[in-house]
Amino acid sequence: VKQVEDIRDNPKHRAMFHSLTNRVFEFDLEQWRKLGFWPEKYKPHAFVDGDSMLSNVSTFDMRLSVEGQKLRARQVGTVMTHSEHRGHGYASRLMEHVVEKYDADADLFFLFTSPHLIPFYNQTGFEVVEERRFLAAYSAESVGKVRLHELDLTKADSRDWLFARASNRIPISRRFGILDGPEIFMYHSLYRYPDCVFHDEVQDCVLIARVVDEVLHVYDIVSDSPVNESELLSSFAGQGVKSLEFHFTPDQLSLSVETQPFDPEDVFMVRAKDPVFHGEIRNQTTLQA
Ligand SMILES: CC(C)(COP(=O)(O)OP(=O)(O)OC[C@H]1O[C@@H](n2cnc3c(N)ncnc32)[C@H](O)[C@@H]1OP(=O)(O)O)[C@@H](O)C(=O)NCCC(=O)NCCS
Repeated sequence: VKQVEDIRDNPKHRAMFHSLTNRVFEFDLEQWRKLGFWPEKYKPHAFVDGDSMLSNVSTFDMRLSVEGQKLRARQVGTVMTHSEHRGHGYASRLMEHVVEKYDADADLFFLFTSPHLIPFYNQTGFEVVEERRFLAAYSAESVGKVRLHELDLTKADSRDWLFARASNRIPISRRFGILDGPEIFMYHSLYRYPDCVFHDEVQDCVLIARVVDEVLHVYDIVSDSPVNESELLSSFAGQGVKSLEFHFTPDQLSLSVETQPFDPEDVFMVRAKDPVFHGEIRNQTTLQA
């Protein structure tokens, strides 16, 4: 069994990595890579044996705005062990390896996981940070003309355009927002919200949103300058929308929001020397690796 870290650029190791993500999570990142969105800062760390990968822990190097401060962060993801090799300490060893390796140049590590694995991540110093749900009323008086155009991301020029916009964006939140990482944003646009990415030509910004059961879920707003969100969201009038839910901390918006307790499917866990989050937050959904 040997430890390898050249997965992005070594076709043999990359094939093993894809095969393990398919087996454990039923997805692979090959399409995302082929489109040119796998950056060096997304780094898998794995144990391999012969032609098969036993276990992997990936890290994504990113800059965050947290409570108005610029922090260096490593997001931990794609934590997986082949089902026939679980319980031998592989994932724990890789977790220990990455926190040791990046400790000196990271202000914090964070990850998202299902609640039953909280004790597993506690072992390497991760603690749950509580999130809140941010909601707002949707005012029907703000009916505007429809000016959102869905982006067709099967077209290379639309993807290039979107990538350039995401590269020059202002953070969605000062309390918890990503300052770089357009590659992850592209992953979400392409594979999580493919029919929900709109261009607002009047304000020249990008909105990711969809209506589910009278709630307009707002996943992200990508712009190089502040937007008028009431005007932006007015295009959804007539679709029976009664309220808004934000999938980020909406501290840069002028709408009045209320918060409620949130019991997420995946809990947010952080490892930091000092507590970094002080107020109510919701993680930015489009930065999850
Ligand atoms: C979670 C996972 C990566 C652990 O891999 P592993 O190599 O078996 O982990 P380790 O052998 O290092 O486990 C170390 C300890 O963590 C704990 N642990 C591991 N998996 C656990 C699980 N599924 N539930 C609860 N505790 C777990 C155990 O206490 C274990 O100690 P033990 O020796 O007493 O059993 C593996 O079970 C897996 O691939 N699961 C499916 C994918 C997944 O859910 N990944 C996490 C996404 S955030």
